[in-house]
Amino acid sequence: MKWKFALAEERNEKYVICNADEGDPGAFMDRSKLESDPHEVLEGMAIQAFATGANEGYIYCRAEYPLAIARLKIAITQAEERGFLGDHILGTGFSLKLHIKEGAGAFVCGEETALMASVEGERGMPRLRPPFPAQSGLFGKPTTINNVETLSSVPWIIRNGAVAYNSIGTEKSKGTKVFALAGKIKRGGLVEVPMGITIREVVEEIGGGTGTNRAVKAVQMGGPSGGCIPESLLDTRIDYDEVNRTGAIMGSGGMIVLDETTCMVDVARYFLDFTQLESCGKCTFCRIGTRRMLEVLSRICEGRGVPEDLQTLDELAVQIKDTSLCGLGQTAPNPVLTTLKYFREEYEEHINDKKCRAGKCSSLCDYVIDGRACTGCTVCARKCPVGAISGERKKAHVIDLDICVRCGVCRDVCNFDAVKVV
Ligand SMILES: Cc1cc2nc3c(=O)[nH]c(=O)nc-3n(C[C@H](O)[C@H](O)[C@H](O)COP(=O)(O)O)c2cc1C
Repeated sequence: MKWKFALAEERNEKYVICNADEGDPGAFMDRSKLESDPHEVLEGMAIQAFATGANEGYIYCRAEYPLAIARLKIAITQAEERGFLGDHILGTGFSLKLHIKEGAGAFVCGEETALMASVEGERGMPRLRPPFPAQSGLFGKPTTINNVETLSSVPWIIRNGAVAYNSIGTEKSKGTKVFALAGKIKRGGLVEVPMGITIREVVEEIGGGTGTNRAVKAVQMGGPSGGCIPESLLDTRIDYDEVNRTGAIMGSGGMIVLDETTCMVDVARYFLDFTQLESCGKCTFCRIGTRRMLEVLSRICEGRGVPEDLQTLDELAVQIKDTSLCGLGQTAPNPVLTTLKYFREEYEEHINDKKCRAGKCSSLCDYVIDGRACTGCTVCARKCPVGAISGERKKAHVIDLDICVRCGVCRDVCNFDAVKVV
């Protein structure tokens, strides 16, 4: 649709942009593609430009990806030498000049209007739409912006046909999707799966489960703008609409597996810490509301939460979503909303019982070693980063709670399930 709108604009100058900002923490799908096969992305951009009538384009790639940038530069030069880019491509009347623009690593610059402002040399802040980029984008000209993954699938679609592409996936979500599988997972890394496969199949069959002998508690999908999907919903199919219905989003493809050692309040705090820091500050609720939400979450994690905090979080979340200009603010409350929806009892335990069942919130838990289960193997003592564990070999060990920083490493490394959270 974006390409169609851009083509319909009768203007001499048009642009194409490849969004390679990849701002989600932990995501590396685009980096991997750009480092391993930059030509596929360039070919996708050439088709994008040909289809929309553009003659100039930018690849907006974060500066933290020096290898990807170096390989893109080589690939552009090679393509120009062979007549696949530059003037009169393959002897035709079609020309395309591509530039690389390095981004300075601001999450909001992945948002398309902020990205274009950044390419123009302005401060990376989003603007109101309409006008949409396809009508008035970069330097006021019709512009199509697509992601690395989208562009790299274009040559395949042209070569094999739309029917072949549409034969993969679900009614509304076609083709394949790449995920960065991370967290408590036996086989982590990049996986490309057909749309329509369930989250459970990805986590259990492809990823091999948690690999920690502990059950999956939830899967966080969609990066900082996403949400936590509980184990009971893991049979949800990977489809844009079905994932949205859970309160999470597909996003760029982050999939973080969480087991019972993960505190869901802490997870919400972690992602909100990121989004409030990355808010560009243009919208008041995004700028100040996310900060207030973070303060409330921090208070709850530190054992200073009060029952009214949950209502405050609910109210702020709705207001931030409703009043923010761009996707950053509109989605920032998602990690909080989904954890409140599916794991509300954990919030209540933190507030009412001053307990963190997962053993993550250091003010609310103590670690002890069960003397009957401990074999004195010494692994925990050797791995403890602050030397809080003592004991003789083959005898039960003890944790000095005055030294312990509640990092949970002892519990993670214990092969006998002897470390308990109280
Ligand atoms: C705060 C924010 C950050 C974003 N970051 C990225 C990003 O890093 N990479 C990306 O491709 N799209 C990102 N997007 C989405 C883009 O704005 C845009 O929708 C996308 O590039 C369109 O690509 P597609 O049509 O090929 O999917 C972000 C959106 C928002 C609101």
